[in-house]
Amino acid sequence: MNRPPAVDGGRTRSTGPFSGDWERLAAEIRACRLCPLGATRTHAVVYRGGPSPRVVFVGEAPGATEDATGRPFMGRSGARLDAAVAAVGLADGEFGVLNVLKCRPPENRFDRLAARTCRPYLRRQLELLHPRALVPLGAVALRELAPEAPPVLTAAGRPYDSPDGPIFPLIHPAAALRSRTLRERWDRDVRALGAWLRSVV
Ligand code: URA
Repeated sequence: MNRPPAVDGGRTRSTGPFSGDWERLAAEIRACRLCPLGATRTHAVVYRGGPSPRVVFVGEAPGATEDATGRPFMGRSGARLDAAVAAVGLADGEFGVLNVLKCRPPENRFDRLAARTCRPYLRRQLELLHPRALVPLGAVALRELAPEAPPVLTAAGRPYDSPDGPIFPLIHPAAALRSRTLRERWDRDVRALGAWLRSVV
């Protein structure tokens, strides 16, 4: 079962049942040993959010907190992301959070080979969740969803046409923790995301 509890430590609440297909996919991801990361992870990290989200935020890979809890974006960058989600007016159940990589790479070093192995999981998750909008967080997620897009610092803060339809890239919330300039960029882009969501989604 990958159904989130009714209350997730003050974070996302589930609003209803996930499909059997989703549950089977989640079980497959949690049992996955297709790449070496399967041997070093504590938990594969599948998803948190409602079963029919309007918006899905796509991150890069689980870190230490996510590996320990089995849930995406639970550390400091997760707190920043959750604040942004609240600021753009998305209620519990209206959004979801997942990652390109399902398992934590050692030393948090992104692993392109693992990303290729994980790709069918990501594609199937997006197919089953079928959100109205995708928000890639940072360069890795942007490259995964829109390989032709300009670099993330150029693309962030405005809608972009991807093979999956319109997406709205943001810089990674961890980057926003690094400098005042990037924090201001994050805040500005999140405001633009809110306006975009109100007008089109
Ligand atoms: N936590 C995640 O789940 N994903 C990231 O990209 C960063 C932190």
